[in-house]
Order: sequence, then structure tokens, then C-alpha cells
Amino acid sequence: MKNGVNAGHKGVFTAEVLSNQQIRENYYRLNLRLDAIGSRYFQSAVPGQFLELDLSELPLPPEEKIPPALRDSAHRHILLRRPFSFSDVIVLPSHEGPCVKLEILYCVLGPATLRMMSLTSGTVVNVLGPLGNGFTIPKTLKRAILIAGGMGAPPLLHLGGYLKRHFSEVQTVCFAGARSCEDLPFTLKIGNITGLVLEEFDVLGIPSRVATDDGSAGFKGFVTECAGQWLSDNRPHPKDTILYACGPEPMLAEAAKLAEAFDLSCQVSMERRMACGIGLCQSCAVEIKTGATQTEYKLCCKDGPVFDSRKVVFQR
Ligand SMILES: Cc1cc2nc3c(=O)[nH]c(=O)nc-3n(C[C@H](O)[C@H](O)[C@H](O)COP(=O)(O)OP(=O)(O)OC[C@H]3O[C@@H](n4cnc5c(N)ncnc54)[C@H](O)[C@@H]3O)c2cc1C
Ligand code: FES
Repeated sequence: MKNGVNAGHKGVFTAEVLSNQQIRENYYRLNLRLDAIGSRYFQSAVPGQFLELDLSELPLPPEEKIPPALRDSAHRHILLRRPFSFSDVIVLPSHEGPCVKLEILYCVLGPATLRMMSLTSGTVVNVLGPLGNGFTIPKTLKRAILIAGGMGAPPLLHLGGYLKRHFSEVQTVCFAGARSCEDLPFTLKIGNITGLVLEEFDVLGIPSRVATDDGSAGFKGFVTECAGQWLSDNRPHPKDTILYACGPEPMLAEAAKLAEAFDLSCQVSMERRMACGIGLCQSCAVEIKTGATQTEYKLCCKDGPVFDSRKVVFQR
């Protein structure tokens, strides 16, 4: 318990927009500063946890900024909050208590994320969180292998930074993949040894590899194939290595197979359409194995989003 707030407790708070920067076409980086009480709740948020934003009152961006593919759906009402992971959580101590800054990487896909484009510095948004259970980092961990697919990247970027800050002895390597170069929510640069790397991981001192399905950047093929080659070459020890994955479900299923083939533990962050975010509406079920042939449904928002890959029945 820190400053009277138990880990696992959540609430509704306000957060002020510090910046909302376009990083590439359809991708934005949003920085928020939580109010004093929210900061106390979010100061111990771990990678893989998430929040829900109320975007219902935000205006649409000017017509010319709306991508043509979204013009029809743009005017739909936003009834439900929308879930977002954090790509970073920074806790600034002060004598009045902690001040927490959150970074969110988002992709413009529909009416709510379109409205997020209109957030400007000083706007106040309503936040529910921190929600869910994040990645587990055992004390014995020596090597972390991060596999990110498309917009699965933000919680793994948070995890990379978190490991560097709190588990600096853990060797971390990141693999990030997408259909094409434009779908990677990162800045690419040429690394010293390995060709294209991700700047956001490079500044953390974490080596990275890029894979694209169409070969427009880095390894041509699925990110799990790229990680598989690296695993064959490096053979990390199963006892102290964990594979952490976030991305589309077919990619998570492949990551789970890869982990099994190399006898590694694997934690996957699952995505489901979410309504309430707090375990009430039952809209986010994930099928989980409970025995050789039995399964039960767990809630992605409350029991996850992170699960042990060996337990998940993946939907193809
Ligand atoms: C735990 C969690 C963490 C997330 N973190 C991030 C993040 O860090 N950055 C980010 O950009 N997005 C993230 N998302 C997805 C984000 O919530 C959706 O993109 C957003 O709600 C879309 O809202 P919209 O109204 O703009 O589009 P909508 O019209 O609601 O959706 C646009 C399209 O995206 C699909 N879609 C929307 N939400 C999901 C989902 N949860 N799973 C699968 N498909 C979906 C829809 O089927 C539709 O095709 C996260 C989702 C979850 C569940
Ligand atoms: S989103 Fe409502 S139960 Fe998970």
C-alpha cells in the first residue's frame, strides 16, 4: 500500500492533456497528467494494465483531416469509454504527493480515436483506471523477449522501460512486426550491427528487430518467424527467460507455439472489444483451459488482459 491506495484499486479521475503529437500517418502520441488523487492510484500501474477514456464529448477534427475511409462512421455517437494501454508511466515525486504522467500511443481507427485527434494541450479528459492485471516479472528473470504485433506495441514499450528502470540486470530484446512499414507505430533507424532498429527501444538500450509481412522494412515475414530465428541462434535458458507478447490474436497463438517449441514461459496480452472495463458487462470473455479437456471463460478486462499463453484457447 502506497499513500493509502492499495494496488488493484481503481477509480474515475481527471487528466490534463500535456501534448498530442502526430508521429506518423494515423498514429499519435498522447501525454496526460493525472490529477492528485488519480496520481496516487496510477503511481504503481504496471505494464499491461490499461485505462478507459471517456471521449464522448470531444468534437470531431475538421472534415479535411478525417481519413476518407472513416468519413461514414465518423459521426457515430460515442456511448462507451475506450480502452488504451500505456506506453509509459512516469512518476514525479513532490512534497504534495506523486504526480503521474501517462503516455498513450494510439492509432486512428474509428469515431472515438478520430475525436482523440482534436485533443490539445490543456484539455481535461475523464479517465477510469488503472484496470486489469499486467505482466508478471519474477525475481529470477534474466532474459525478456518482447514480441509486438501492430498496435500491440504500447504495453511492450512500457515493459521495456519498466525493466530498464526496475530490473536493470534483465537482458531484453524486442521484435516488432506489422503488415507494412507504415503500420509500425515506431520510429525506425539504422542500428550499428543489426540493420533497422526501433528508436524508442534503442534509447532504452534495448536491441530490437523489425519484421514486415510485405518486406517493406526489416525481416520479410511474420514477427514470430523473425523471433523464432533469433531463438534458434541464441537458445535462451528456459528457467530464467520469459516471452512477452501483445498483438493480434493469430500472432499471439504463434508466439505461444514458439514458446512451447523452445520450452519457454509466455505471457500474452489479449485484446477484446470492451464495454465496461471492470467486469460487469461480460462482453470480453477469453476461453481458458482449466484441465486436460475442460475450459472456462475469464474476463479480459478483469482477469487479464495478460494471461499465461499455455492456458489460453486462441480463436483463429
Ligand atoms: C486492453 C486494451 C488495450 C488497448 N490499447 C490500445 C493502445 O494502446 N493503442 C491503441 O491505439 N488502441 C488500443 N486498444 C484498442 C482501442 O481500444 C480501439 O482501437 C478503440 O477503442 C477504437 O475505438 P474507435 O471508436 O476509434 O473505433 P471502433 O469503431 O470502435 O473500432 C474500429 C475498428 O477497430 C476494431 N477494434 C476496436 N477495438 C478493438 C479491440 N479491443 N479488439 C479488436 N478489435 C478492435 C473494430 O472491430 C473496428 O474494426 C486497446 C484495446 C484493449 C482492449
Ligand atoms: S468489458 Fe465489461 S466485463 Fe469486461
